[in-house]
Amino acid sequence: MKELKYQAVTPKEYQKVTPEIFFKQRRRFLKLGAGSLVAALSVESLLADIVNKTDKLHYRPMSDKEMLKINRNVIFPTPEELATSYNNFYEFGYSKSDPKNKAGSLKTSPWSISIEGEVQKPFVIDVEELITKMTLVERIYRFRCVEAWSMVIPWIGFELREFINFAKPTKEAKYIRFTTLYDPKQFPMQGGFLGLGMGSSFLDFPYKEGLRIDEARNPLSMLAVGMYKKRLLPQNGAPIRLVVPWKYGYKMIKSINKIEFLKKQPVSTWEAENSREYGFYGNVDPEVSHPRWSQSSERVIGQRGRVPTLYLNGYAKEVEHLYAGLDRKKLY
Ligand code: MTE
Repeated sequence: MKELKYQAVTPKEYQKVTPEIFFKQRRRFLKLGAGSLVAALSVESLLADIVNKTDKLHYRPMSDKEMLKINRNVIFPTPEELATSYNNFYEFGYSKSDPKNKAGSLKTSPWSISIEGEVQKPFVIDVEELITKMTLVERIYRFRCVEAWSMVIPWIGFELREFINFAKPTKEAKYIRFTTLYDPKQFPMQGGFLGLGMGSSFLDFPYKEGLRIDEARNPLSMLAVGMYKKRLLPQNGAPIRLVVPWKYGYKMIKSINKIEFLKKQPVSTWEAENSREYGFYGNVDPEVSHPRWSQSSERVIGQRGRVPTLYLNGYAKEVEHLYAGLDRKKLY
């Protein structure tokens, strides 16, 4: 596979998309004493770790100064080891360790994506060719699962709006639906319980997700092809997945091989499974509880304790306008 060429996040962009809480925590850390040798050493070693991982990629890396200024302390992404071993990918099983242990069966190259529905001309494109036509950027985003845990992930991908312009939807296109590859040979759970093609699986595969076209056109929405400066691993949705940081993780569909432009709002997989608990929007909102648990706080993976959940996962400034006049209680 070709190496990824992308533009790294600039300090200005980082500040724009990274919620205040990180900066507050960073300031607290600095107040505690940037002089603390132990802390400084651990920061340095973490930085070195991140910088080393950039070796094979051709992009503008953040300078050490930028990294120290912006990415100190809790601003660090979730350790890569955790983000690639604690996953939800029900095509491989229900346990958080199933995706890492079983996703080896997923063949991610060659991988074609079919673009259909309300477009001037439907087409099929290989993901490698698509990547050459898009501008790859790095985006460090908060990630909040509906199960009330969270991570911080450094994604590499392209803005969904760039893809939409490339796909040339008609004026009738008001929604986009994404579908995961359907292949029970590669995704054991698609074949039903026990993967024997018998009985019904608990989700109606293939996994499907949707966005309103204006949500999709928001500059924060992206299609990711990498994380932690490398290609996505199968367990994280290789070779291409959706990233919408103000929504719960279940919206961020993995291993996409079909993208349709639609006139009407589609029904997503979790909504079809249980519409009382999961909606079409899946917006992160600390004030709208899940019927079975509160969403007011979250467990940060890799850290101790819980932190308050932020409205729209901290991205309200960028996306709140999309929901003007709508009832927040209906946007779960
Ligand atoms: N996409 C597919 N195809 N199948 C899935 O089971 N799980 C979703 C989402 N995308 C899922 C999926 C859920 S519930 C979450 S929280 C995120 O992927 C998890 O992404 P991660 O494993 O990279 O953290």
